[in-house]
Amino acid sequence: MPGTDSGTGGAGTMTPEIVPFDAALGAEVRGVDLARDLDDATFAAIERAWNGHSVLLFRDQSIDEARHVAFSRRFGDLEIHVLDQYLHPRHPEILIVSNVMDGDRHAGIYDAGRYWHTDLSYMAVPSRGSLLYAIEVPHDAAGDPLGDTLFTSTAAAYDALSTDMKRRISGLKAEFSLANRHARLVADGDPDATLSDAHREKTPPVIHKVVRSHPITGRRSIYVNEGQTSRILGLPEDEARDLLQALCAHCTRPEFVYRHRWRAGDLLIWDNIPTQHLAICDYALPQRRYMHRTTLRGTVPQ
Ligand code: SIN
Repeated sequence: MPGTDSGTGGAGTMTPEIVPFDAALGAEVRGVDLARDLDDATFAAIERAWNGHSVLLFRDQSIDEARHVAFSRRFGDLEIHVLDQYLHPRHPEILIVSNVMDGDRHAGIYDAGRYWHTDLSYMAVPSRGSLLYAIEVPHDAAGDPLGDTLFTSTAAAYDALSTDMKRRISGLKAEFSLANRHARLVADGDPDATLSDAHREKTPPVIHKVVRSHPITGRRSIYVNEGQTSRILGLPEDEARDLLQALCAHCTRPEFVYRHRWRAGDLLIWDNIPTQHLAICDYALPQRRYMHRTTLRGTVPQ
């Protein structure tokens, strides 16, 4: 059963079939059972596909927390998320993403991804990627899934900029902060969106480039995002604000976006460098959404 501490499987060579989505990014990986150990050749094929497609979907998986963590570690070191009140009690590498209540407290981060963002862009060393495993997915009365996640290719968005715009933003830097995201949540009426002093101290504002290059593919992408970028530096205030808004709007144009409709048992891995994502909050208890996320450590943006 997904999300429970059950057994492990034997090693195996699998032949992943990579089926690209009809979108600017993303592919489904078929023929891989993540409950079993993957040999190096199988894992290498998956990692290649991830670098090429930025978002990978594995359907119909049944993995426990230890398997989720072990598979994630094949990609690199893991972060222990700074919002530590939402960590899994026995597996701190797992961030619980959920609207479910545990008594009078939230069992997990209930407001994750409400604005377009890329994970941990508010840290000096942002995340390389994230792996989100769906254990419970909310549905409407007709049985259709709710709580979709949208992904956009900020590499495709960069490629589509005019030469003039590429020149204009080359070398610019911006400030990112977790407090910015919380301020937006509060402004949008979320009564529970508080950021403790301790969390605020752990996440002072940081500066990153507006355009970054991928350490493996070399592809450039737009890095500023609506949720966590507070301002572009080195420009008059009005111009900086308009430019930030224009870049965020450009990044999320429909032609760059893939919309994922979740099924329980889906595991999605995304690359946090050339993408942004947005979680659609169109459900409420008793419709339950319960997911586990691991977060891969990254490198300083170049
Ligand atoms: C996230 O931003 O990592 C969560 C995405 C989601 O809940 O769909």
